[in-house]
Amino acid sequence: STIEEYAEKANFLAQRLAEYLAQNLEIKANYFQENCSPSSSSLRMNRYPPCPYPSMMFGIIPHTDTDFLTIVSQDQVGGLQLKRNGRWVSVKPNPKALVVNIGDFYQALSNGVYKSITHRVIANQETERYSAAYFYCPTYETVIESCSKPSLYKKFSFKEYREQIQKDVKATGDKLSDAMTVMSLIAKLLLDS
Ligand code: OGA
Ligand code: NI
Repeated sequence: STIEEYAEKANFLAQRLAEYLAQNLEIKANYFQENCSPSSSSLRMNRYPPCPYPSMMFGIIPHTDTDFLTIVSQDQVGGLQLKRNGRWVSVKPNPKALVVNIGDFYQALSNGVYKSITHRVIANQETERYSAAYFYCPTYETVIESCSKPSLYKKFSFKEYREQIQKDVKATGDKLSDAMTVMSLIAKLLLDS
């Protein structure tokens, strides 16, 4: 019941934040209400065991999130890093704060105004770490279309995007490694269609 309550609150917050970010863009006020539901989003509980060889092993490999935005709650251990201007920046751990990341779909929807952030987790040598990530997602049928013209991205459905990622993971063992890959991934969707 605690997890359910947390997910409900995270969903409420994610929707409000998504709507707030949409205010200065040509996105309908009820866009998120229409395309997202609590059952289209998900909560992932992460446990990172201590790793004796942190330089050889990531907690999570560099990636971007497949969603509109992610709300991360973490303990005091730390290890989350964001890629900014080509450099990894550590997020200061604060169990009382939430970290909000933009995901791929908000990048496409906002036509590149908001950037899907590449991030990773560095393993800790001594201490186990916990985090909870709430992925605010549309339903699989939702077609994501840039809110302005000329559009940097072809419109695509969540379902198509997921299938593309699955193909890429099979081919390369990795979803994406940086924002440029997001671009080409979406460009690839464009070519395929
Ligand atoms: C994720 C993620 C970050 C963290 O689950 O996609 O990036 O701090 N988690 O655990
Ligand atoms: Ni992530």
